[in-house]
Amino acid sequence: MTNDDEIMFIEDIPGVGPATAEKLRDAGYDTIEAIAVASPSELVAAAELGEPTAAKIINAARKAADIGNFEIGSEILERRKLVERLKTGSEAVDTLLGGGVETQSITEVYGEYGSGKTQIAHQLCVNVQLPKEEGGLDGSVIVIDTENTFRPNRILQMASPLGLEEKEVLNNIRVARAYNSNHQILLVDKASEVTKELKESDKPVRLLIVDSLTAHFRAEYVGRGTLADRQQKLNKHMHSLVRFGDLYNAAIFITNQVMSKPDTFFGDPTRPIGGHIVGHTATYRVYLRRSKGEKRIARLVDSPNMPEGEAIFKVTTDGIKDE
Ligand code: GTP
Ligand code: MG
Repeated sequence: MTNDDEIMFIEDIPGVGPATAEKLRDAGYDTIEAIAVASPSELVAAAELGEPTAAKIINAARKAADIGNFEIGSEILERRKLVERLKTGSEAVDTLLGGGVETQSITEVYGEYGSGKTQIAHQLCVNVQLPKEEGGLDGSVIVIDTENTFRPNRILQMASPLGLEEKEVLNNIRVARAYNSNHQILLVDKASEVTKELKESDKPVRLLIVDSLTAHFRAEYVGRGTLADRQQKLNKHMHSLVRFGDLYNAAIFITNQVMSKPDTFFGDPTRPIGGHIVGHTATYRVYLRRSKGEKRIARLVDSPNMPEGEAIFKVTTDGIKDE
């Protein structure tokens, strides 16, 4: 097969025969995408291939999986006119972000455990359903939950003060548990299918949440020599999130943990996971810190179009609120 467009199943990739395809599937490499983001050594182990064959298969899969189209300037201009904002529950945080969480952008929040990342994610699941006049997007949401921290009860606590109907609120939230980083990457494709189906419905998907973006990657890629693979996969993942946001005019909200950087002598030694790949792909990076009691501090870090600054908000039983 020579035409990339015709590669739909893993058997269509040059170098993948039926026996290899079966071994790959058994090992979880069941889509072009999964193979495209694999490393040669992974495929060697999964399907008893030689390293050069594995590399060739991966290259072919990459070409087939990532058929990026050029978009001309006027198309980008038209698309950007559709950008909308989703309110967080705290006006101070909304102002920090230039009016709320932006569609067609990635907003990343990072911070220590208990800093409020998952709480904000829950609040956005509720707020996205509100009418646009009330700061919502009149839409539904898909959550990729990697740490099993999605709590329907917490959603109801936040929805009730806004007068939203319980059953309806929960029905507009689609949650998928991601069991490992490969699965997490594939779930974005799945999310895309669902979003396409709901595009003309009365609650199109306008928000995609990945909570947490990096936990699986961090757990799976430990030790020397794994960093390059991890970064490559994260890069791929980030770009499919960007594409999702552009295609569906959706807001992308991701959470990230921090690590302590022991070689920092000045300033705050905590750094988000994922290095420059996550940092450069996220349009808005927000660092969350705990303060007294319910109080939290959000700091906007390296935003291309907004000044750095801080906002104080609260995590209350009713949800995210101003101080
Ligand atoms: P990790 O995922 O562990 O990294 O942390 P996170 O940043 O996601 O933390 P999360 O958003 O889950 O914040 C948990 C904190 O939110 C708790 O420690 C509480 O302080 C607060 N919180 C959660 N539920 C409630 C609630 O019902 N009422 C109030 N007042 N606070 C709550
Ligand atoms: Mg969390």
